[in-house]
Amino acid sequence: MTTSPAVERLLARMKRLPVLSSFVLRFQHLLSSPNCNTGQIAELLSEDPVVTGRIIRLANSPLFHRYKEVTSVREAVVFLGLEQVREVVLSLSIISLFPLKAGEKCFDTHLFWHHSLSSAHIARHLAGAYSLASPEEAYTAGLLHDIGKILLNHFFPEEYGKVVQKALQMGGNYLAYEREVFGADHCEVGEALALKWALPRELTATLRFHHNPSPEMSPLVALVGFSNLFSKQIGFAFPWEFRPLIFSSDPFWRRLCQHREDLAKIDEELFTFQIEDVVPRIREIIAMSMKGDD
Ligand SMILES: [Fe+2]
Ligand SMILES: [Fe+2]
Repeated sequence: MTTSPAVERLLARMKRLPVLSSFVLRFQHLLSSPNCNTGQIAELLSEDPVVTGRIIRLANSPLFHRYKEVTSVREAVVFLGLEQVREVVLSLSIISLFPLKAGEKCFDTHLFWHHSLSSAHIARHLAGAYSLASPEEAYTAGLLHDIGKILLNHFFPEEYGKVVQKALQMGGNYLAYEREVFGADHCEVGEALALKWALPRELTATLRFHHNPSPEMSPLVALVGFSNLFSKQIGFAFPWEFRPLIFSSDPFWRRLCQHREDLAKIDEELFTFQIEDVVPRIREIIAMSMKGDD
């Protein structure tokens, strides 16, 4: 995988590319080790007081109807479970790489993160329920699939505003407007960041190809391509993106059905209900990470 000259020029104009903190990398590494336990997780989390505070706050949020207050990170980890803690830490860390700047008006960052987190949940749910891919990798890919958009908006808010304005006025092909303004679209820019971060190859491919279905795409690319569309279907879409999703005629879905025939028989209403069930938790995570810790 190589980056185009246009993308190279864009990266050169970005003063300091965001980097994944060593804390997140150590955390992911610890969780992937077969012998990791709650005590080790709590100990590592304690190194980051902001994350610790947010995990405890989430455990105590009204979403979980607890009778007794959670007061330690260890209790919070036991209560929320390792999988949920992993997702929250990853989501908070990625969101915090792109702090809101004064004067950013055109691009709706809240909606962007709602779309990204819901795509991550959809991808993880399907990956786990139908053994299509590793649920952890599916979550990460869903979370990061549009990272090129937020990266472009973070460094070039005025130019990105032009893309958004054009889409609002004319509808149509958003990727073409990005290419018109930047010479590259968010898929190429996202792929370039994934390469800089040395993310796994298959995950990087989801950033590049989530709008570009092909007969040979991997289940992970199909999963992210479909999750992106389904997230829009349940309401996490920019105004120019609303269009009905018909499962049976969507190429990403059809590719997934080639891997698991029983997917074709899915109860779409029940599936929608299961996904919408996590929306309040997504809202809480985003509110926490964008509001700060006052
Ligand atoms: Fe996208
Ligand atoms: Fe998307």
